[in-house]
Amino acid sequence: MYSYTATAVAALALLQPAIASPWGGKNHPPPPPPPQVGPPYLNQLAQQHGKLWLGTAADIPGTNESTDAGYMEIVTNEKIFGQLTPANMMKFQYTEPEQNVFNYSGGDYILDLAERDHQRVRCHNLVWVDELSPFVTNTNWTAAQLTAIMKTHILNVVTHWSDRCYSWDVVNEALNGDGTFSSSVWYDTIGPEYFYQAYEFATEAVRRTGKDIKLYYNDYGLENPGTKTTAAYNLVKELQKRKSRIDGVGLESHFEVGATPSLADQNAAKKGFLALGINVAVTELDVRFTAEPYYTPAGLAQQAQDYYTSVQSCMTVWDFDDKYSWVPSTFPGQGAADIYNATLQRKPAYYAIAEAIEGKPCTVCKV
Ligand SMILES: *[C@@H]1O[C@H](CO)[C@@H](O)[C@H](O)[C@H]1NC(C)=O
Ligand SMILES: *[C@@H]1O[C@H](CO)[C@@H](O)[C@H](O)[C@H]1NC(C)=O
Ligand SMILES: *[C@@H]1O[C@H](CO)[C@@H](O)[C@H](O)[C@H]1NC(C)=O
Ligand SMILES: *[C@@H]1O[C@H](CO)[C@@H](O)[C@H](O)[C@H]1NC(C)=O
Repeated sequence: MYSYTATAVAALALLQPAIASPWGGKNHPPPPPPPQVGPPYLNQLAQQHGKLWLGTAADIPGTNESTDAGYMEIVTNEKIFGQLTPANMMKFQYTEPEQNVFNYSGGDYILDLAERDHQRVRCHNLVWVDELSPFVTNTNWTAAQLTAIMKTHILNVVTHWSDRCYSWDVVNEALNGDGTFSSSVWYDTIGPEYFYQAYEFATEAVRRTGKDIKLYYNDYGLENPGTKTTAAYNLVKELQKRKSRIDGVGLESHFEVGATPSLADQNAAKKGFLALGINVAVTELDVRFTAEPYYTPAGLAQQAQDYYTSVQSCMTVWDFDDKYSWVPSTFPGQGAADIYNATLQRKPAYYAIAEAIEGKPCTVCKV
């Protein structure tokens, strides 16, 4: 069978007419380089150095990534990534597309994959301004009605997946830069209480599972001391006062090359959260170029330095490659934010993370 197939392929190749091609007269483009999957292994190194893991977000299933063998080989390699975050598939519009109609298949896909590969999953997210179902946003609900919708969603989703989720980002991105609550259907309809109620319902959902599922608040702009970070400290204190479960805060850490907060600032912000007796996770780390060219040696070395600075306890990079990055569509003209390039080859930043984890000086942070 095997040799028959090989012969058939060889015969087909011989029969291929010799047409002019853009690839130097050959009939096939050069094969892409294989994805880089050898050592150093970031998750393995992180765990050897006492961290929980090093993880990544992944926008699967239903995207081009899902059918890209090279991408899938990297994302499922537990030595490189010990934890996955579904970039989209557990958000409201996917999990409850119509009122009281739940769809868990996208989330199940990631959980199945992660469990097969001994990776943990940070589940993301329950209450956010964006990626909501039309039934939530197309009706003028009363505060009581929308609170009931939020409660139903949280109780169903959290109890369904139970401790297959290591943690949940309960509320995502609730704050403006000036520390006030930002506009969303939740805030605009219910007022500030929506935030505290989300945690009250999530705490109740976890209690019903009888499992230990960590509850997080996730946001950007909390990576250095400032007004927004202080506001987040206050949200945590209020949740603690109300006896809601709050295990940690996720610092998204979407940085810009050359403008990443200093190590002192990042440490100070994290220490403020740790002082409240909660955990800190770097949840969506990436460092984007704000203008082309992206791939100069000096730019890549600065990016490596920025990643090196940002490597802290329990870190999670937000997707790992420039091929499927969220950055170009959100910030036009910007990109190359990740640690693998678009042909799934490692950038200096990848090696900078390994060196930072090992406590070694950075050899790739300078040209
Ligand atoms: C997915 O791949 C197809 C075929 O290569 C391409 O046309 C499409 O633009 C890609 N989609 C995205 C979102 O990159
Ligand atoms: C459930 O979600 C999956 C993944 O997004 C999607 O492919 C499927 O069509 C959905 N099922 C229904 C009944 O909407
Ligand atoms: C919701 O309220 C706004 C403002 O009063 C109104 O313009 C809109 O038509 C209402 N929408 C629905 C679906 O009733
Ligand atoms: C990715 O990096 C490799 C090795 O540095 C390089 O040869 C390749 O051109 C890069 N690919 C892209 C799309 O930047």
